Amino acid sequence: MKKVVNGVLSQACCNGLIELSEEIFNSSSIRGNGNDYKQATDDLEVTEYPKLRQYILPLLPSIIKHAESEVQSFDDVFIVRYDMKNQRKLVRHVDGGDRTIQIALSSRENFVGGGTLFDDGLIQCNQGSALVFDSSLYHAGVEIKSGQRYLLVLFCHLTNQHLREKGTVTLHLENTRGVLSRFDLFDVHSPSSSQLSLMARKEMRDNTTYFHPFHLFSKHDNHILRFVEDVFNFHVSRLNLKVDAKVAGCEFWFHKTSSERESMDFHFDKDEQRLKILDEMVHPTLATITYLSDSIQLPTLIFGEEESILCFPHTGRHISFGGNLLHGCPHNLMIRKRKKGADCSFRLTLMVNLWCTHQPMLDEMGEFRYYQGDMTATTKIEPLSVSFAPWTEVEIHTNPTVYGEKGVKGGVVADPEVVTENIRQHVRCDWKSRAAYVIGSGSFK
Ligand SMILES: [Fe+2]
Ligand SMILES: [Fe+2]
Repeated sequence: MKKVVNGVLSQACCNGLIELSEEIFNSSSIRGNGNDYKQATDDLEVTEYPKLRQYILPLLPSIIKHAESEVQSFDDVFIVRYDMKNQRKLVRHVDGGDRTIQIALSSRENFVGGGTLFDDGLIQCNQGSALVFDSSLYHAGVEIKSGQRYLLVLFCHLTNQHLREKGTVTLHLENTRGVLSRFDLFDVHSPSSSQLSLMARKEMRDNTTYFHPFHLFSKHDNHILRFVEDVFNFHVSRLNLKVDAKVAGCEFWFHKTSSERESMDFHFDKDEQRLKILDEMVHPTLATITYLSDSIQLPTLIFGEEESILCFPHTGRHISFGGNLLHGCPHNLMIRKRKKGADCSFRLTLMVNLWCTHQPMLDEMGEFRYYQGDMTATTKIEPLSVSFAPWTEVEIHTNPTVYGEKGVKGGVVADPEVVTENIRQHVRCDWKSRAAYVIGSGSFK
């Protein structure tokens, strides 16, 4: 079999992956090896680079569903780069594994030539599209005449019998299931993050919560709405979330903390009105926080089901986590007060929560608040550019009674004093220089 599936990865995902790969190509010696069955290519093996692995793992479900059979394991998962100085083409060959999924990461404008030549013709894919074929089909990588062409390639095993001892990649498929219950950390790159930070400071007036419905998504001149839509599309695409277009949308609000004593106790995000009126707890599909300043170093603590994460503010940092997770930033988590030479005197965050299959109820006024803001853009809006960010893992052996029962009404379940005291006692590292910590495994259960 041989087919092309369009739009498997979003433009933002592809660009993020290229950027990350470029960084690695520029900083290390590339594999460039060959073994008994695989042609030598200018490539990066995903498992060898934690950042790449972290980036690709959550994308796997939306990629391998196009294999047409259930993928059991991988023979190899790697990023190939064709460029003028190194590898320009690849001779006729067959791949490892049973099925090859080859995703075009580069936009067609970024190179001349290229494509995959089968015995019955040439296939050239647009950015984000996947070429899926039987690995036993002969094919060649056509020479590029200029530019750079990046591909994400997966050699998949469809049966366990074909597992090779050598070359088998342990990208555990089970890690990709239930991905919503954990967290992922990203960097929103400039100019997106600096534009957003500027606009937020200009447009933010209060802590009002707005709802931006999916059916009104379009190309706005407003930076904030555009960012909100980009965040929605980015996560829906990478996590392969189901979206009910009639009810889906983004709930978003800014949170500004100007004093070290201000804080947000541990809580669950939920449909507030529904809880009030119907006493029912419905959580968003996914919650996100984008940090827009780093002057007050008050971190967010998110309790995962197996691990927890402590994320320090850093302009452009973006964290996503399951919408049902307990989180907060009580002021006693403050490790360090203000950053020297900080560009503003407050902690500013933009929360964007994704509601994919449930619409939060109308507010007390019987309406949604739609964002007005400054609709006249004075500068060009850059497309969202995002990459995965690393974190540091810390083992904390803490008192297991810290994390109590889930509150029926979304009440506070963990005593911030006890939690933070535990963290302070057990973490022995330089808090100041790190952006985020994953804390232990099951520490707070
Ligand atoms: Fe190949
Ligand atoms: Fe929250």
